[in-house]
Amino acid sequence: MSRLKMGVIGVGGIAQDRHIPSFQLLADKVSLTAVHDVDQSRAERAARKFDIPHVADDYQDLFGKVDAVTVCTPNKFHAEIAIAALEAGVHVLVEKPMAITTDECQRMIQASQKSGALLSVAYHYRYTPEAELAKQAVKNKEIGDPLVTRVQAMRRRKVPGWGVFTNKELQGGGSLIDFGCHLLDLALWLLDDPKPVEVMGRTYDRLSKTPGQVNDWGAFDHESFNVDDHVTSYITFDNGLSMQFECSWAANIKEDHTTLSISGVDGGLSVYPFELYQAKYGALFDSTAKIREGEPDPGLLQAKNFVDSCLGEAELVVKPEQALKVTRLMEAIYESSEKGTSISIQ
Ligand SMILES: NC(=O)c1ccc[n+]([C@@H]2O[C@H](COP(=O)([O-])OP(=O)(O)OC[C@H]3O[C@@H](n4cnc5c(N)ncnc54)[C@H](O)[C@@H]3O)[C@@H](O)[C@H]2O)c1
Repeated sequence: MSRLKMGVIGVGGIAQDRHIPSFQLLADKVSLTAVHDVDQSRAERAARKFDIPHVADDYQDLFGKVDAVTVCTPNKFHAEIAIAALEAGVHVLVEKPMAITTDECQRMIQASQKSGALLSVAYHYRYTPEAELAKQAVKNKEIGDPLVTRVQAMRRRKVPGWGVFTNKELQGGGSLIDFGCHLLDLALWLLDDPKPVEVMGRTYDRLSKTPGQVNDWGAFDHESFNVDDHVTSYITFDNGLSMQFECSWAANIKEDHTTLSISGVDGGLSVYPFELYQAKYGALFDSTAKIREGEPDPGLLQAKNFVDSCLGEAELVVKPEQALKVTRLMEAIYESSEKGTSISIQ
């Protein structure tokens, strides 16, 4: 195959800030040939800005012009558009979360299996240098069998004041489905995809529903706010592992932090910043990693893995079955909070 012809559906923030610039840096392997957005004038502006030749009025028209697409619309449309693309034989990279419901994810996977077109999800935290180090450390048994995982994806008073992030109908949820999903995905990947069996979750919205909040990421309407701004969960897995999970857009904490730490039988690690905790020669050892300047951008590595996979030169790092598991967990957390009970996962 010559260069991969790529289209972009939904040319808002993430498409213009991450996807389009990343694919353009891979110009020897991929050319961006078409864009589509329900906001036609935004699509035309983006096409002009990034020198992309075609603006498609509807996404079905775009499929005839490309080999692959990246879907960067609000979450509600991920499944519908991805399935249509896959059925047209077009490879799909879809923004996270894969979709709002497990059912949608399953239908996306079926469409991919039926047509043979590839499907991947933009869980780009996996490509951060710290995550790559953690993956190698776990794989090389530096911490032995993992036992307990702690995840905190925490922001202080940063409800997104732009876009549709606070709209449940379009996004399916708030801090969990927007931010927590990255860390859930990363934790499951580092733990080698353990099978979840039980989930307890609580979601909160009271802070953001209260008028007159101090918010560092612009203004939002507290009355129409109908998603979670803070979520806690306890998840157990069939191999005895457990995970304590918390994420927030708007916590009353000292400062933002992203923490993912794993305690294993022989050692432990923390991902951001990467540290390894071990016991050797009768002493406790802490190792830190110096992340070298100029490490490639995770968004670029994500685009490269997708393009190389479409060209048959690599294997997808983010498999759709793994992303489905993240959506299944989020669905269970929301359901557990609604029902006030723990949820068993088959
Ligand atoms: N990976 C990350 O870290 C990250 C960061 C931000 C957003 N995202 C994800 O990217 C997606 C888009 O987020 P964003 O911040 O770019 O939002 P955005 O609102 O800036 O852009 C979304 C674009 O999609 C268009 N659109 C809406 N419905 C459409 C439809 N049915 N068909 C075609 N176009 C449609 C809108 O007109 C808009 O231009 C979401 O799924 C979000 O979760 C991921």
